[in-house]
Amino acid sequence: MIKEVKSEKEMKIFGARLGALLVGGAVVELVGDVGAGKTTLTKGIAVGLGVNEDVQSPSFTISRVYEARDGLNLAHYDFYRLQDAGIMADELNEAIHHPTSIIIIEWGSIVEGVLPIDRLTIKIESPAESDRRLTIMSNGPISQSIEEKL
Ligand SMILES: Nc1ncnc2c1ncn2[C@@H]1O[C@H](COP(=O)(O)OP(=O)(O)OP(=O)(O)O)[C@@H](O)[C@H]1O
Ligand SMILES: [Mg+2]
Repeated sequence: MIKEVKSEKEMKIFGARLGALLVGGAVVELVGDVGAGKTTLTKGIAVGLGVNEDVQSPSFTISRVYEARDGLNLAHYDFYRLQDAGIMADELNEAIHHPTSIIIIEWGSIVEGVLPIDRLTIKIESPAESDRRLTIMSNGPISQSIEEKL
């Protein structure tokens, strides 16, 4: 599906709606240029997941984990600065198979090999200053059931 948002606020509201639908084991891959709004969307998702902390971009730390509602945790990754997937690919693979984890990934192409087929992929394009076009794709039972409810 395609979703257009007109402002940072709308992006966060959409994220919160998505976050409310996510279940343990869900993987969300965010695709888009620098400044597209991947981390902004993640902040909204965190709200919908009941995360109380302030979500910060994990570009320097590569990953950050937050406690969420219902005994879930949100693991947010940003592989932009990673030259070699190495041990991070193993860590991600472990997190992906954790039933109470929800995974959000920015700049995931370096870890493509460990990304599950069943993931929600959201491509963010920026046609104008604060307009964003989200193309949402699902490929498997977990991600499809989330997309259907959006
Ligand atoms: N509709 C919108 N949705 C999201 N962000 C918007 C929107 N309009 C303007 N912005 C601005 O665009 C920027 C998005 O930054 P953000 O850190 O979310 O991008 P990113 O895709 O995570 O980039 P990076 O690849 O560097 O991690 C912010 O400065 C935000 O205020
Ligand atoms: Mg970011």
